[in-house]
Amino acid sequence: MCGIFGLISNKNLNIGKIALDGIKRLEYRGYDSCGVAFQNGKNFDVKKVSGKIEALQEKYSLNSLSGSLAIAHTRWATHGAPTKRNSHPHTDCREEIALVHNGIIENFIELKEELISKGHTFKSETDTEILPHLIEDYLGQGFSFKEAVVRTLKRCKGAYGIAVCYAKEPDSMIVARKESPIVIGVDKGATSYCASDIPALLPHTRSCYILNDDELAILKAGEVEFFSVNNANKKIKKKPEYIKWSVDDARKNGYDHFMLKEIFDEPDALRNTLKIPDNEFKNFAQELVKANQIYITAAGTSYYASLAGKYMITRFLGKFIQNIECSEFQNRLSGALERNSVIIAVSQSGETADTIEAVRWAKEAQPDIKILSITNVVGSSLTRYSDHYIVTRAGPEIGVASTKTYVTQVLSLGLIALEVAKLKKSKPSEDIQKYYDALTSTPDIIEEFLDKNVNSIRAFVKNLEKNLNYFFLGRGISIATAKEGGLKLKEVACRFIEGYSAAHAKHGPISLVREGFPIIFIAPPDETYKRLVGNVMEFKSRGGYIISVVVESDKKVTDLSDVTIRIPQPSTRYYNLFSPITFIPALQILSYFAALEHGLDPDKPLNLAKTVTVH
Ligand code: G6P
Repeated sequence: MCGIFGLISNKNLNIGKIALDGIKRLEYRGYDSCGVAFQNGKNFDVKKVSGKIEALQEKYSLNSLSGSLAIAHTRWATHGAPTKRNSHPHTDCREEIALVHNGIIENFIELKEELISKGHTFKSETDTEILPHLIEDYLGQGFSFKEAVVRTLKRCKGAYGIAVCYAKEPDSMIVARKESPIVIGVDKGATSYCASDIPALLPHTRSCYILNDDELAILKAGEVEFFSVNNANKKIKKKPEYIKWSVDDARKNGYDHFMLKEIFDEPDALRNTLKIPDNEFKNFAQELVKANQIYITAAGTSYYASLAGKYMITRFLGKFIQNIECSEFQNRLSGALERNSVIIAVSQSGETADTIEAVRWAKEAQPDIKILSITNVVGSSLTRYSDHYIVTRAGPEIGVASTKTYVTQVLSLGLIALEVAKLKKSKPSEDIQKYYDALTSTPDIIEEFLDKNVNSIRAFVKNLEKNLNYFFLGRGISIATAKEGGLKLKEVACRFIEGYSAAHAKHGPISLVREGFPIIFIAPPDETYKRLVGNVMEFKSRGGYIISVVVESDKKVTDLSDVTIRIPQPSTRYYNLFSPITFIPALQILSYFAALEHGLDPDKPLNLAKTVTVH
């Protein structure tokens, strides 16, 4: 939702540049306003703007500022419009406390009324601003800085990741988390850093402490101590995790946009995910085989990965799997969640509030339920609520619209499906091996596709520029691809898309088709192909402009199409089952170029945030 970054050092650093660079790397978390607070020897200089980080630099020339303590924030507005006044850092009445926050304080209205009645003056409409005022209040009652922060946090309901500084204790910074991520890096004896996510720390250190819920850390120059918010007198020992991602992994590597870089990262992301030990997938398969009922839940792109995964797993498991959007999970299953059920939760960030709430609610409603999760982020909240989890190896994904994390999610679900097949012996072992070979060749197929096809997609996207509406249609497992491909175009190119079942589209949506209306058919040569040919004809005969995604040897759909995008893969059932992985890059690339054609920034779609920590 928002990105926070802070540092404290015993050196006189180029603090403005480091702080702005820190939040720049977190811009994917929100980018509607931003701000930074620096220690100025007496209290804090707070600089904020409504708008992007470049505007902050332009207005205040912060790059040349030196110092040894700063906290910075890039915001995605929830409470209060994205104005300068509502942007962070927020301060108390005396401007001795400066604080940045990611999350939502749900009981802020009551707390604000209480503080106003005590004489506090508020400058913003945010929930966050109650935090520095409450800390000020406890300091006024004689509590230490740490105790004042702890008491404040204990009064708050909701989610927070915070970094807070106190002008009278300029040699320390306090950070804390509950349901909003915080990572800490320490350059021993010199500088300590905190951030909402790892990419912001990578230029400074690879060794990161991941703060858990209800933990608090006191950062001093080059050192850190950890405590529990619930027992703040007792220190907690924590071990740092070594992050293998390189600084370049988190940068654009010469590509114009993160989205394009991350699509080209897909073959490696898949190869790395294929290196995850088999027993991690086997653990999932064992739980699925034992389960009474199985649900799969997620949001956005992860939801469409789960749709594809459901098809794959069902094929070998022989049990019905129910897909439920995470935000509807509780509504749909209240009173109906059976014992001995399994929930697969899919979330690239592992922090999506609705996904976390779904699994937490399920665990409370039926304690013997098993939570199996797939995420891309080590130490994310979702992993902590899970009985088993798989962390995909896509590396950091900065583009707001998910690309490489999607293919690694579908790959992981495919690997689980094949472990199920082995356990259940639902196919002869030679067949399972052929499926496995097909799945492990997906990185090579995508690599070859990207090598050969990117320019031709760019060329035909130019001709599509005039269209505002599109259908994306498929049958069977390709409905997932149609919906995810459509979502990408919607997100980055701001076009209206209906991602739909090709068969069902004749019951209503077809009435929109006129001469030249673009329809994108996802047409792998699987068991649905023959009937899909009929669907293509239905749309073609009404004047539809047919774009199809097919395998290289395709003939029938190709003959009916105005344009084809050809995927270099064999036309066997072993490969077709994994077409959601190999067909999606074509649609991601199409969306990327469509965004450029429309003059939009594909990395920062309008109104979206990469990690949504509100319900
Ligand atoms: C937001 C993002 C989507 C993402 C969804 C789920 O809506 O804009 O791109 O698919 O959240 O995120 P998750 O981290 O749970 O996969």
